Parts: sequence; structure tokens; C-alpha cells
Amino acid sequence: MEPIIAGNWKMNMDPAESRTLVQDLMKSVGDIKGRIVILIPPFTSLASVCELTRNTRFKLGAQNMHWERSGAYTGEISGLFLKSLGCEYVVLGHSERRHIMGESDETVNKKLKVALEIGLIPIFCVGETEQERESGATEQVIRRQISEGLKGIENEAHKIVFAYEPVWAIGTGKTATPEQAVAAHKFIRNLLKKPSTILYGGSVKPDNIDTLMKEDEIQGVLVGGASLKADSFARIIKFIQ
Ligand code: 13P
Repeated sequence: MEPIIAGNWKMNMDPAESRTLVQDLMKSVGDIKGRIVILIPPFTSLASVCELTRNTRFKLGAQNMHWERSGAYTGEISGLFLKSLGCEYVVLGHSERRHIMGESDETVNKKLKVALEIGLIPIFCVGETEQERESGATEQVIRRQISEGLKGIENEAHKIVFAYEPVWAIGTGKTATPEQAVAAHKFIRNLLKKPSTILYGGSVKPDNIDTLMKEDEIQGVLVGGASLKADSFARIIKFIQ
């Protein structure tokens, strides 16, 4: 399985900025071989990014979706719309949605089910807060997020890409050590029946990517801040194996 390098742009990059970033990134990266690169812009930039990445090796993902296919849900986005814009992936259960937007394990579960039904590959994020880690609750939190998230779809877990994103490492510059990440990845892997792909996310930068990717347990990364600049994201994509 090729390693996955995914760039979550969060609420950054309007359509024009997105176009510039993709064009610069393509110049910096050249030919991508042996890795899957996923660009995850905000909804309003998906169309621009899709247009530029068509027939290239860059893949497209979205940051969230609703659990219904259509209906009276003002302000929400259907997974079917994402598919029609060329998305193959969708991030679900990101900690910013859980902790800032109040998303629950239950809604993440409903979204995971629909994503699988309509043929989007979920990038299912789990991870503990600093307080949870300090109180020794890391494994308990991850076990809950995984078991509640996968309720009723346990046998389809191999179709999901998991992302371990410790909340204390997101946007803080505090990367989990490779040992901490490996321990969490092993824990997640043991909860799953079949082998799955597990990414690490949280302050991934050009200067720590090579060390992280040396670990067999880490099959790719979900990058936030460092995916917003063409040169730093290109360096991450071209990590040295
Ligand atoms: P940073 O790389 O900015 O820490 O963000 C990580 C993240 O949340 C990716 O989804």
C-alpha cells in the first residue's frame, strides 16, 4: 500500500488562492510516484481544485459532510455533492468538529455509514486531548471514539482510513514522538478486525516527516498548517523513506 499524504486546508484558501497553491505545488513536487496525495480544500474551493487536478495523481477530499443524502438541512453538504465534484475522500470526526462544533460519536457514526454507502473513503479522525492524556485516559478515549464511530459497520473498517490526531499536537508545534504515535497506532490496530491504514496528524512539518515515516506503523500523514505552503507541503510529499 502506498503511503498517504493528505493536506487538510481547514478554513483557509479561497478559490483563487487554492488555484495558486495547487499550481505552485505541482511545480514543486514534479511527478509524484509511490505515494497517494490527497488535497482537502474547503467546500467552496473544491471545484477549482478539481479542475486543476483532473487527470493528475492528486486526489480530492472534503473536510466534512452531512449524514443524509439530501433534504431540509440548511447550510449542510451532502456526500453525493462531494462525489459529483470529484471527491474520493471525506474527513470525518476531526477534533475541530468534535470540540468546536460539538460533533458527537453518534453523528460521526451516521456520517461514516453514509460515506461508505455512497462510495466515499472516510478519513476517520480520533485522538485525545492534553487533559485526557495527562489523566491516563488516552486509550479509553480512543476505544470509545472507535467503537461508537464504527457501530454497525465494524466489518467495513478496512474500507476506512484512520487518522490518529492527538488534539494537543494539532496546530501547537508539539508533534507526538514517533514512540507515542506508534503506541497509539498499535492500540487502534488491535481494536480493528482487519488491517487498516492509519495516518498520523498533528504538527507534521518538513523537519519531522522523515522520522515519522520511518515507522511501519505510520502509513501516512494528515497535515494541516504545513499543507498551506507549496514548498513545505512538497517537501512533506517527497519524504525520504
Ligand atoms: P496541524 O498540522 O496544523 O497541526 O493540523 C493537523 C490537523 O488537524 C490535520 O487534520
